[in-house]
Parts: sequence; structure tokens; C-alpha cells
Amino acid sequence: MCGIVGYIGPDQAAPFLLEGMSKLEYRGYDSAGIAVFDGSQINIDKSVGRLNILAKKVEMKPLTGNLGIGHTRWATHGRPSDANSHPHTDCTGKFVVVHNGIIENYMHIKEKLIAKGHIFTSETDTEVVAHLLEEYYEGDFEATVKKVLETIEGSYALVFMCQDEPDKLICTKQDNPLVIGLGEGENFIASDIPAIISRTRRTYILSDGEMAIVTKDSVWVTNRQGVPVTKKVFEVNWDAEAAEKGGYEHFMIKEIYEQPKAVRETMTGRVAKDNSGVAFEELKWIKEDVTSLKKIAIVACGTAYHAGIVGKYLIENLARIPVEVDVASEFRYRSPLIDDQTLTIVISQSGETLDTLAALKEAKKLGSRVLAITNVVGSSIAREADQVIYTWAGPEIAVASTKAYTTQLIVMAMLAIYMGSLKGKLPQARVLELCQELRELPNHIHELLEDVEPIKTFAQQYGFNEDVFFLGRSLDYAVALEGALKLKEISYIHAEAYAAGELKHGTLALIIEGVPVIALATQKDVYEKMLSNIKEVKARDAVVIGIGLKGDNQIEKYVDHTIYIPATDKFLTPILSVIPLQLLAYYAAATRGCDVDKPRNLAKSVTVE
Ligand code: AGP
Repeated sequence: MCGIVGYIGPDQAAPFLLEGMSKLEYRGYDSAGIAVFDGSQINIDKSVGRLNILAKKVEMKPLTGNLGIGHTRWATHGRPSDANSHPHTDCTGKFVVVHNGIIENYMHIKEKLIAKGHIFTSETDTEVVAHLLEEYYEGDFEATVKKVLETIEGSYALVFMCQDEPDKLICTKQDNPLVIGLGEGENFIASDIPAIISRTRRTYILSDGEMAIVTKDSVWVTNRQGVPVTKKVFEVNWDAEAAEKGGYEHFMIKEIYEQPKAVRETMTGRVAKDNSGVAFEELKWIKEDVTSLKKIAIVACGTAYHAGIVGKYLIENLARIPVEVDVASEFRYRSPLIDDQTLTIVISQSGETLDTLAALKEAKKLGSRVLAITNVVGSSIAREADQVIYTWAGPEIAVASTKAYTTQLIVMAMLAIYMGSLKGKLPQARVLELCQELRELPNHIHELLEDVEPIKTFAQQYGFNEDVFFLGRSLDYAVALEGALKLKEISYIHAEAYAAGELKHGTLALIIEGVPVIALATQKDVYEKMLSNIKEVKARDAVVIGIGLKGDNQIEKYVDHTIYIPATDKFLTPILSVIPLQLLAYYAAATRGCDVDKPRNLAKSVTVE
């Protein structure tokens, strides 16, 4: 998730580009760059790091001109570096592009272009677009862009510049946002409204498959075949801060609603389109890489640790490999029994959590191979690990982790299927079934997010209780832990999660009249046992909110309120059952007037021991 901007008009382009990018830095801050046409050629300035580094460079050596594009990067392909920063050009410098998204078939295209003599200067997927323009160009910029779009696959928002036609910018989108700001004698392009709101409130929101020819006096929108599209002007009435949150009140709720896309992107290029299996380009494991393992150690902190607990269930059941899960701050001091026959998996959204980084180094010291699952390309943990699987959740701004957690669960599920298949533990029919269910998940999450009113009501009704309990068995217990953490960290309610069967061994003493209990009952093989645990707390007059599968007409007889999630494979339910718990925590915190995105005493990335 990067931020892109474009300007064409009478003014100097660079000031608008830099100002617009500063409003998009929440989308990515690994590197920044601009390209400006000075009347005879396109000049580019780009650098790794925060936008202010580039701004200083441009201040020292201004880029003059009235036509330009800019980019602030969230690295996916190629770690943060000057060379991997956008904009990217072709061999001649005639074509310049900025891109947000992932070109899935870039490696295939790149190999072909290199064979034809093209020289690549970066590791990015985006650069192939610039070289394809060069490859196809026969004097018609627009026709060339159309041909390039027929060749590339994936998700993208793209803005193109051509030195031969400096009176226009061309832009297009597929699955990634792009807006055009309509000015008087000037026009603006951006990934999101915050970048243009200070210059105009009249916009076109581009739809998938549309492209626009933008000059200083006109915006001509067509579909990819060139058929004109009549666009309705969208008048923006948000203030700048609200715009950064895309109209949402907080980054946390925005990120909760970004989960269908984050989950879909994290599966892209990994779950085969025909559901025949899972493959990780970044791993390229063979059977021996899995059969040689005596055990797996998963190490992480906080929410990432909770994702690891779900991972244990999935890997042990689908790949039949013993898995230990540890919080990193304990792992590194308990002289763990791991060696070169142990695979250590470290999980970290930020890739900078000190305890997890130190645990990684400890594992390597003991001879273990280390696989990192992280959301930040080029982060310390990514750099230290032997191999890395990236979650494609995009930047997560709110301290409370939501979309990073669900994408970590997706990676755990894919990894378990991948290792189970390599080991020959998973019959092909089962692989097919699991992959089919995996690909259904984004729609199921979408469905869950369509009606949040009942959850909002529960949060308002019980949001002022100071003690709340979460109960579950098996995978539901793992999700209950995450639900309790979410509620604790943003609403400051004392919430605890328990393995439901453990309740009668002590904690049941805390269950009194009116205390809210969130009971997850989505696991068929322990369902009856879970119902009896619900009866135990109901017998002490607790108020029970049950989380059950759609089609389950039993649970509502035992609880006070029921939230249903779409039915899916039992190993994949955590990806759905956590959503109502994220929402419950969010609305409880909002009801209590808490600083949802920046809760007290907490930081997004904990870089101290
Ligand atoms: C989760 O909402 C918290 N922000 C926190 O527990 C977090 O999961 C933990 O600090 C680990 O962070 P990481 O995934 O960036 O390593």
C-alpha cells in the first residue's frame, strides 16, 4: 500500500507533489521520489527513508516544471533502498511510472525483457511496466499504455509520464484506489483524497478497469478498450484528518474494514488459482526440508504470539509436526531445546519487536533455521531471518493489531497446508477443500462487516463493566486470548480468556451475576463440551454473548445474545470468529471515549526489552 500523486497545470509541480505525499505517508514511508518534466526532459529525485529526506534534497536542488508524479513507498518487492524507490523508468528515460499494488507476473515479464536486452536497475515488480512501455512504443502513448495493461496481471494504481507527450498524464487502476482532483486549469491525481483536499474538493473516483487521460484543462475517462465513461463528480466534505482515515473515525476501524483486501492480497500468488495447492516462491522447499524437521518452535509477542497458538493447531493437525509456542521474552531465557532439526518461526507485524528479534538470534545461535513472518519488508527481523514470508496487510497504524493478525493466520493456514502436502500427510481432495475455503474467506469477512449494529449495541450495553471473560475450547480458546487482549489494550477493561474446561478449576469463583462472558463455540468436535461450560457460567447468572456458526440453531438456547459467523473449515474459523471480537473491543473503547488508535502506555512497535 503506497501513496501516489500527479500534477499537471500552470504551477510548479514539485510543491504539490511533496505536500500531497506528506498526506499519504500513512500508506507507506520506506522511501519517496518525484519526477518532473522541465520542458525538455523528465528529471527524477528519489531516496530511501521518510519523505523529509527527499524534501531536503529537492530544496537543495529544485525540480522545476508543471508536470510531475510522486510516490511514497510501502515496500513489497525489493527492500527499501534508493534503487527500489519509485518513480521507475525504462532504459531511455522516456517513460516514467509510479505504482501502488503488486504486479503478480512481473518475474516472467522481466526475464523476457532482459532476454531482449533491457537493463533493470531495481528489484521491484513495478519497473517492468516502464520497460514494457519502451518495448511496445510506436509513437502513440495512450495505445502503448493499453497494450501494457493487457500484459500485466495483479493489483495496481498506476500513473504514467511520457517525455514525448508532456501535455498529459495517464493513470489507471485495478483493485487499488485512485482519485482525480478536478481543478481550474489544473488537475491532480492521488491514491487518496487527503493528498488533494487542500487544492480541490471536486473529484472523480476511478473504478476498476478505468483509465484517464489527464491534461491541465480536461480529464478524459475510458475503459481499457477506450470506450468513454461518464464519471459523476464526488464532492468531498471531509476535513483533512478524517480523509487520512478514509472517512473512518479511527485507523483501527479502517484497518478492520481493510481485512478482506489484506487477506486476499496475502493469498495472492500463493494459493493456486485452481485450488490445487499452496506454493511459496520465497521458500521453494522440497520434501526433505519438512521431513527432516524434528519440531517447530513458534516465537512472538502479543497478538503475533496469539497467531502462533493458532498456527500450532493447524501445523500439528495438517502437517503432523510437533509445535511449541513461546512468548519471546520467555523463550530467550529458558535455554530452549532447539537445534538444527528445529525450524523456528518468528512472527512480528512490525519486524522490529526487540524480544522477538533477540529470540530469533538465540535460535540461530542454537543452530535452528529461522523463518520470519512479518508485515514490513526490510525490517530487522526480515533481514536477520534465513527466510521470510510477508503478510500483505499494508501499513498498520493503530496500535491494536487487527488486519496483521488475520493475515498472520492466513499465512499459518497456508504454511500448514504447504508442509502437509510436501510431507504427503494431506490427501489432494483435502488440499482442494481447504484452498477453496481459504479463497472464500475475504467474502465471509465482508459479510461479517456488513452488519455491525448488534455488536455496537452489546458494546454500549456492557462496555462499562470492569471485568469481562472470554471462553473457548481448542481453536476458540486461541481466539478468545486475542479477543481479551484487544478489549484490554484499547478499552482498559480487565478482560481474561480461559480454556473453558479450565474454568471449574478456580476461575469460576469470579463469575457472578451480570458479569459479561463472551463464549466462542465454533469447533464441532468440542461443541457439546462448550455448551456445558456455558451452562456453568449461566448457572452463576453471567450474561453470555455466544459466538456460533451460521446454521447452528442450538447455541441461542443457552446464551443471552448470539453473534453468528459464516461457516467455514474448522481450521479456518479463527479468521472469522476474531472479527466480532475486534469490533466489540473497538466499540467498547469508543463508547468509553478512549484514545482508540493510541491507547495509554502502549506503542505500535516495542523496541525495548
Ligand atoms: C497488539 O494489538 C499489540 N499492538 C501488541 O501486542 C503487538 O502484537 C506486539 O507488541 C507484537 O508486535 P509485532 O507483531 O510488531 O512484533
